[in-house]
Amino acid sequence: MEKISITGNGPLRGEVRIAGAKNAALPIIAASLLSAEPLQVSNIPGVRDIDTALQLLGLLGCKVERTPDSLFIDTGEVHSVYAPYELVKTMRGAILLLGPLLARFGEADVSLPGGCAIGSRPVNEHIAGLQALGAEITIEAGYIKAKARRLRGAHFTFDIPSVTATENLVMAATLAEGTTVLDNCAMEPEIGDLARLLTSMGARIQGAGTSTVTIEGVQSLSGASHQVPPDRIETGTFLTAAAATRGDITVLDTNPDFLHFVLGKLEQAGASIELGPDWIRLHTGGKRCRAVHVNTAPYPAFPTDMQAQFMALNAVAEGSATVVENIFENRFMHVAELQRMGADIELQGHTAIVKGRERLQGAPVMATDLRASASLVIAALAADGETTIDRVYHLDRGYANIDRKLAAMGALIKRV
Ligand code: EPU
Repeated sequence: MEKISITGNGPLRGEVRIAGAKNAALPIIAASLLSAEPLQVSNIPGVRDIDTALQLLGLLGCKVERTPDSLFIDTGEVHSVYAPYELVKTMRGAILLLGPLLARFGEADVSLPGGCAIGSRPVNEHIAGLQALGAEITIEAGYIKAKARRLRGAHFTFDIPSVTATENLVMAATLAEGTTVLDNCAMEPEIGDLARLLTSMGARIQGAGTSTVTIEGVQSLSGASHQVPPDRIETGTFLTAAAATRGDITVLDTNPDFLHFVLGKLEQAGASIELGPDWIRLHTGGKRCRAVHVNTAPYPAFPTDMQAQFMALNAVAEGSATVVENIFENRFMHVAELQRMGADIELQGHTAIVKGRERLQGAPVMATDLRASASLVIAALAADGETTIDRVYHLDRGYANIDRKLAAMGALIKRV
């Protein structure tokens, strides 16, 4: 199994280009199923979760052509509505197939994703929402079996603002009969982006990116072309790595607009930030950052997907701070690994109390999920000596060429 070896060697310096956002690309790929006409997508990130999503589309009968930057999906000859456990369990975003399959083909047979390293991650909101649109849904042998002759518009209020449940319902409602009003929606920027694609396919959507989204159903949708927006979490991850190593980097091809909260926290930690329309420079003047309190919450507040990276930053910062995880019940698996590198972190339920250490020590550690891996990479860059990170496939699920990008900014990093 592949590992990554990192030898801490001081500040990251230089430039890095950001890829398209994985969590924006996944709903876009699922949305291709809503139309019989082709979808062309550019700025697709070269990450494993996208490979898995495209493999799933292939099983359904879609034709997929991919070049390094562009993707072409032809859904004209779909012959299956079955998404098997073997693939869904490796990529929970596969639940996004449920809404589009049901809306266009009147049925879907999608595996329940099961638990994962960050929590139990139920899908009850997806199911309740689709039932409100008139779907008949049963759970049989670990699969969600959904049927509806044609979905009907309805008023549905989410109990919890879920990102993928909002995306699933918005997609399903585009082809429903009548108007759907969704309340207490998630407001993450990926939802606004999905709505822009759906609108260019002919959907009628208002309010996407706010807590109330209204969708007026149409008979059919057309093909479209779309560019995936930059990955805000990849952007935040590199900036946090630069802060932890007392570096000076410029992140290119990004969008600072969706990162206000994270950038504010990095400034609070003592880093200087300069912004352009599509770039962000972070520099520390060679100084050690201060530990900052972090409290994860739905967008526009501090993202859970940046919590692990800030845990690593705090572990090498001056002073102490708390990190509170409010979205997922078990998203602290990286703490035990950071402790193996000498981090001083005490866990009290959903709160981690981090006392910064001047240096961490390299150690063999194990990645447990995508963002936990990113946190270990940051800690390793800021540690003395060599760290080997096992189970690197977690990292490759969401970061394209992270080793090459870090090496170009001076990191001593290699795959072994
Ligand atoms: N929840 C329920 N029932 C549901 C759905 C969600 O109780 O039916 C709960 C979850 O357990 C969690 C909260 O609602 O406590 C929010 O979860 P959400 O559904 O918003 O998460 P998600 O849609 O499964 C997406 C991202 C995650 C990101 C979260 C939160 C994609 C493909 N995934 O997941 O990304 O952490 O939103 O922002 O968009 C990652 O990229 O590393 C990642 C895990």
